[in-house]
Amino acid sequence: MENQKILLNKKAKVVTMGCQLNESDSEKLMGMLTYMGASLTDKTELADIIIFNTCAVRENAEKKVLGLLGSLKKKAEEKPDMLIGICGCTATQPHIAELIKKKYRHVRLVFGTCSLARFPELIQEAMQSGKTVIDIEQRKEVPEGLPVCRGEGPKAWLPVMFGCDNFCSYCVVPHVRGRERSRAPQAILAEAKAIALQGKKEIMLLGQNVNSYGKGLAEPVDFASLLYLLNDVEGIERIRFMTSHPKDIHPRLIEAMAFCDRVCKQLHLPVQSGSDAVLSAMNRHYTRAQYLEKIAYARQLMPDVVLSTDIMVGFPGETEEDFEDTLSLMKEVRYDSAFTFIYSRREGTPAATWENQIPEDVVHERFERLVQLQNQISLEKNRALSGKTLTVLCEGASKNDPRMLTGRDEGNRLVHFKGDPSWIGNMIPIRITQAESFCLYGEVL
Ligand code: 5AD
Ligand code: SF4
Repeated sequence: MENQKILLNKKAKVVTMGCQLNESDSEKLMGMLTYMGASLTDKTELADIIIFNTCAVRENAEKKVLGLLGSLKKKAEEKPDMLIGICGCTATQPHIAELIKKKYRHVRLVFGTCSLARFPELIQEAMQSGKTVIDIEQRKEVPEGLPVCRGEGPKAWLPVMFGCDNFCSYCVVPHVRGRERSRAPQAILAEAKAIALQGKKEIMLLGQNVNSYGKGLAEPVDFASLLYLLNDVEGIERIRFMTSHPKDIHPRLIEAMAFCDRVCKQLHLPVQSGSDAVLSAMNRHYTRAQYLEKIAYARQLMPDVVLSTDIMVGFPGETEEDFEDTLSLMKEVRYDSAFTFIYSRREGTPAATWENQIPEDVVHERFERLVQLQNQISLEKNRALSGKTLTVLCEGASKNDPRMLTGRDEGNRLVHFKGDPSWIGNMIPIRITQAESFCLYGEVL
């Protein structure tokens, strides 16, 4: 990156509204802004530059960002040299770029997920031309060497691949993040070592579908071999990854997880539905039985593996029986936790065009039942940890109660405890005294 301090004396705010990959992209945006001379702020009223890094997975996220952009119109008119931009998955959709150009004329920069590395040029162009600059092209290159402004605390995001080739029939991601492309293993290893040198203890490997890591790279490498490679990085004590696609989770990967001492025995494996008919309509390429076999193998090699999932209700055509299959799968697996979603109709995806959409009241009633069941299972599983000792990586003060510290155990379970702020970044043995559905409480041993 050319080091032009074109943003000296400017204050910039980046608003992250999406998944972990968005958070990781925002760290790069903040890195580039700092590199160009800007100082970062959290305060909208102080910012000369505001960039919204958005999500498009559900319609609500899209509505929210359009509302926020609308609310800044007056401020932008009062302060003509202010620069408001939007990037990420929502911004990458051509109909949104068009809408911004026509109806949100105070937004002067729109750039897609594949244009991140072009941000310095684009912002310069927007500032000099005074016009709206749009770049939502899909690109194949994997950007390397961008400056990163990592958050505080002992954990770091580390993207290993970008894009998705799966085209699940409900999902907008392949349309906005482009085709799968993997980073070279040497680049990932070098970044992991740099993260360790910064004193971080945990890395979260990121990708839309990490199990197909390596596809298209010149050298033969898969995600399992990447785990073996990263397991030897001095200073990194915990390695996690997300997200895995059940169709691509190979026994070799489960074996690597079990073998590598720094790879957490924790697996996020989105199932989406427990019904074969729905899975097939979703274009997921696995059956309930195949999914359960993979879970069984993971539990065979790692009996205490902590399992989580993504589940959706109200997919077009989902019958009461299909939904009951989802409930029964939830009971069978007994996930430690689950992200539950109401199906959202996304423009450009096949399922959005189908006529067999489910009425809202039915969807909401199913959603309530699903959430209730998972909360009950999570509570039972967490209560079973009472009296046990977990090793918790202390992350910082608790958001709800600053007198408490908070951290996560190997299974990524949230634990609150009393302690000294000097413990932040350390592994602390905590005896669990109390359990709720979403978190645990404990005391230091
Ligand atoms: N509606 C609801 N949930 C969705 N997800 C992806 N697309 C949609 C959609 N159109 C959920 C899936 C995925 C998670 C990241 O978001 O469960 O695993
Ligand atoms: Fe979307 Fe499916 Fe790709 Fe996940 S695997 S990002 S749900 S298309």
